[in-house]
Amino acid sequence: MSKTDANTGASLMHEEKKEVASPWPGPKGMIPVTSGQADDANLHNRAYLDSILVEMRIIDAVKPNLTTEIFGKKYSSPLTLAALSHLNKVLPDKSRKPMQEKVAAAKKMDVLNWIGMESDEDYREMVKDAGDTIRIVKPFADHERIIKELQLAEKLGAVAVGMDIDHVPGENGDYDVVDGLPLGALTFADLRRYVKATKLPFVAKGILSVRDATKARDAGASAIVVSHHHGRIPFGVPPLKILPEIKKALKGSKMTIFVDGSLMSGYDAYKALALGADAVLIGRGILWELLKDGQAGTEAKIEKLNEELSQMMLYTGIPDTKSFDSSVLHFE
Ligand SMILES: Cc1cc2nc3c(=O)[nH]c(=O)nc-3n(C[C@H](O)[C@H](O)[C@H](O)COP(=O)(O)O)c2cc1C
Repeated sequence: MSKTDANTGASLMHEEKKEVASPWPGPKGMIPVTSGQADDANLHNRAYLDSILVEMRIIDAVKPNLTTEIFGKKYSSPLTLAALSHLNKVLPDKSRKPMQEKVAAAKKMDVLNWIGMESDEDYREMVKDAGDTIRIVKPFADHERIIKELQLAEKLGAVAVGMDIDHVPGENGDYDVVDGLPLGALTFADLRRYVKATKLPFVAKGILSVRDATKARDAGASAIVVSHHHGRIPFGVPPLKILPEIKKALKGSKMTIFVDGSLMSGYDAYKALALGADAVLIGRGILWELLKDGQAGTEAKIEKLNEELSQMMLYTGIPDTKSFDSSVLHFE
């Protein structure tokens, strides 16, 4: 994928790396842009997803039921809306609040919604009329801030809380700083402490190895998101590629396994579910529609994704979301 220097064999990737013009509104860096270079893990997600083909099992197949149980509660679909923070700051039209529009769309469509980094004040505002929410807190260097945010989410009725543990490093190789707030290292003991700080199920978001998955399990997490957070790690292995190994390692643990990463259609979601995810997160797959047409656009996109998922389940004889079967998949 990357070009090499004819003399030295070195990758020309970095020399070629040009600033990619952002297609998104808002200040630079607020919505991530994929570079399309060899180290861009999004590129590898897409290539892996597109290399998986599906056989047909139509005889005796019936229209599927998409109802899905997550943390003991029923939802209309295994699709959930990923945490997409800071969107209220990106549109020129300041009267619009995409974060609230997303919350409203999730509620109307009866799907679970994730909320990421927001101030306590904004979070309160967002969940005022919300449906079910999973609150994800950053791995701040200030551990007391983490505990406070987790406990506020519990008080405000979140169905689960968690941490995007994949957001420790910044691009300069140091701990990242977000909105002026320093992030820090995360130890197993820290994770254990955060799990114990709440009565809610705890989700470790950003698991990309069997090693971290079993550590999250041993720390008491109820769930993981197999993810690299839209390609934070250069050359990140596609979450779907590593999902089956992780699933196997967690067998018997009763943990809920979510997955995300470039799932842009119901067909992509189907592949993730067939590979063993209990539910999937859709982030950038609803982002255009959300920013352009708000709640209505997001609802229409969720509908479309559900239709594609249903179509694929019907073609492959999967009657409900408990019956996915990886043996329908073929890897090119
Ligand atoms: C604009 C934007 C903001 C995000 N903010 C957060 C966040 O605050 N917390 C978090 O855990 N993930 C955050 N994410 C990551 C997503 O939840 C998701 O893991 C990632 O985008 C991969 O899913 P996708 O390929 O469907 O977009 C953000 C993603 C985007 C695009």
